[in-house]
Amino acid sequence: MFSCTGANETMKGKTNSYEFAKVYDQITEQSQDEWLFLIEKIARIEKNELLNVLDLGTGTGKMAIAFAELGCAVTGIDQSKEMLKVAREKSWMVPHIAWVGKKIEDFKPKTKFDLIVSIDVFNHFLEPKIMEKVCREARKHLNENGLLIFNIATQRHVQDMLDSLGYGDVVNSDTEFIWLDKLNGKDWSIKLKVLERMHGNLFKEKEYRVDQRVYELEEVKQILKKAGFKKIKIYGDRKLKEATLKNREWLFVCKSEP
Ligand SMILES: C[S@@+](CC[C@H](N)C(=O)[O-])C[C@H]1O[C@@H](n2cnc3c(N)ncnc32)[C@H](O)[C@@H]1O
Repeated sequence: MFSCTGANETMKGKTNSYEFAKVYDQITEQSQDEWLFLIEKIARIEKNELLNVLDLGTGTGKMAIAFAELGCAVTGIDQSKEMLKVAREKSWMVPHIAWVGKKIEDFKPKTKFDLIVSIDVFNHFLEPKIMEKVCREARKHLNENGLLIFNIATQRHVQDMLDSLGYGDVVNSDTEFIWLDKLNGKDWSIKLKVLERMHGNLFKEKEYRVDQRVYELEEVKQILKKAGFKKIKIYGDRKLKEATLKNREWLFVCKSEP
């Protein structure tokens, strides 16, 4: 890591700022290929066609664009206009994508989907009731054999992050970041500091905060049952192996019924 010599300017940022959206892809793992591979595999197992896809909390559109490039008709929804602006900029050449700027819990789609996917979003629902509402709505908007697939970071993941001193990386010669996790009961917040070179050795430090919630396995199972899902498979750590309490991440695959 380079050190920040010279003057620096500290700014409190918001995660709905365009500047945050622009660094988002750089600071998050570029794992959409891994997700795509896994989801396509699950879709084959579940005999799902993947023609119409809805991406909840699409962010900068990583998954949505990947599915559209496969030939699916995709709708990506996000409450952040700034994230969607980046998604639009990235996808102007990609056909069959509709971007919707709305809260997921307020979205009432007019069509049904073969796949409703949501990656790194469900921990953002600070109340179980909101997750239940989203899942209930999703179930109503799935075609026969349609799938709702979402991941959840576990308490184990947060604990690992807390046990380390912080997670960070050098993005390029002008940008580096560090993020620090905090857990209070089920309230999980991430403080993200981004250092951006202004010129020479002068850096601007921006701080962002993301509030999330930790969910227990049984809690999510109950939420899905209340939302009306009967066929639920839960995998752990991006492998097609049954979830355990040791996992750092769970993947929920919920199938609609005729
Ligand atoms: C960690 S990002 C994940 C983005 C994307 N799914 C990905 O894998 O890169 C979480 C996204 O969910 C969005 N989000 C969180 N809660 C939301 C809500 N209630 N309604 C709409 N968007 C939401 C945020 O704006 C953000 O873009």
